[in-house]
Amino acid sequence: SEVYRAGLSGIRPAVPVDVHALERAARKAVSAEAFAYLAGGAGAEATMAANRAAFARRQIWPRVLRDVSTRDLSIELLGRRRATPFILSPIGVAELAHPEADVAVGRAAAALDVPYVLSNQASRPMEEVAAAMGSRSRWFQLYWSASDELNESFVRRAEAAGCEAIVVTLDTHLLGWRTRDLDAAFLPFTRGQGIAQYTSDPVFAGLVRERAARSAGAGAASAARPKVTPTLLASAFAIARSGAHTRLVDGGVREALRSPLPRAAVETFLDVFSDPALTWKSLAKLREWTSLPVLLKGVMHPDDAARALDHGVGGLVVSNHGGRQIDGSVATLDALPGVVERVAGRVPVILDSGVRGGADAFIALALGATAVGIGRPYAYGLAVAGADGVREVVRNHIAELDLTMGLAGHRSVSEIGPDSLRAA
Ligand code: FNR
Repeated sequence: SEVYRAGLSGIRPAVPVDVHALERAARKAVSAEAFAYLAGGAGAEATMAANRAAFARRQIWPRVLRDVSTRDLSIELLGRRRATPFILSPIGVAELAHPEADVAVGRAAAALDVPYVLSNQASRPMEEVAAAMGSRSRWFQLYWSASDELNESFVRRAEAAGCEAIVVTLDTHLLGWRTRDLDAAFLPFTRGQGIAQYTSDPVFAGLVRERAARSAGAGAASAARPKVTPTLLASAFAIARSGAHTRLVDGGVREALRSPLPRAAVETFLDVFSDPALTWKSLAKLREWTSLPVLLKGVMHPDDAARALDHGVGGLVVSNHGGRQIDGSVATLDALPGVVERVAGRVPVILDSGVRGGADAFIALALGATAVGIGRPYAYGLAVAGADGVREVVRNHIAELDLTMGLAGHRSVSEIGPDSLRAA
């Protein structure tokens, strides 16, 4: 009713309600490169299309005369009652959408009490976002680094910053074939974007210093050893990528140019960013670092879901990274029922990729998802109107789910099930 009341009193929304108009508005709000990064997928973007097509193949089967005057959208998730079945999936390099980046998203998530998964590739350190969120729910998404010291540091920082869970993303041990980014010769983090979790990390700074000392020889390194500040590291990435240091004039850059650290910083990042050798065995280490629940994001196959349960995970996220990693792969909605069946209610199963509104969320819940992750739509909201944009996009998802439930004759999320859809 908030949405309609605002409309009736002539208050214009901060962002378009229609998802296609929202995407067009985001395209206008940011640079062509930034939009390519936000909107793009892998290869010919067949997986992105498959994610959407899988929703289009399902149909909600409404029931009538069931008194839906009050509706309850709440769910139980990771030991807490949540107001709605939505979470905000992690989105890295959010500064490409808006300068307030992750902090703006955190404020919007907190206002609506929707859990926000802080990205490992964030533009703001997790501690800053946590401060903006107060006591509201956040989880931390980890890209498993080749440095266990760094993994441990991230996980311990996340726990200290009040994150309630660690979400390990398993579909990005190599970066996908991102055609739009390749055509734009664009790799954001080599421009110093999306590296705030690293530049704010003492272990990372230590790794950089060690490398600089090794490559410069102990004497040279100690002679020119400035403090490794976030500005210095960010500048180093910018320089490494662009070579256009004459255009960058701040003090951090000048300092970086004189020191042996820039190269070391870039090399360290590229070394530690991910670990393609990762296997199930490594996951056990998480238990030494934290007692928080561990969710695995990017699990698509029922056999992997079973294996994850054997490893004591606290939840799964059925995701194909919004079609940004493998082109021509399975749609998440098609993978969901097999995973749900194998998990058999033992842990929550969250779905993301391709969700573009509340009706999509309804379908995912009907196929057994415990909760649903919003991705690009909130990034577009961020691009168009900062925190207000994110809040409206998420609120619109909630409002549409509420209406869809009521119109389809459902009073609560627990009533949504296989019978709510017409069998395909
Ligand atoms: C992502 N995604 C992502 N996932 C993750 O685990 N860590 C990350 O840093 C990012 N970064 C990121 C940036 C951008 C611009 C996008 C679009 C996506 C994937 C994200 O969490 C989620 O799985 C997808 O966005 C879901 O697909 P849709 O809803 O965008 O189609």
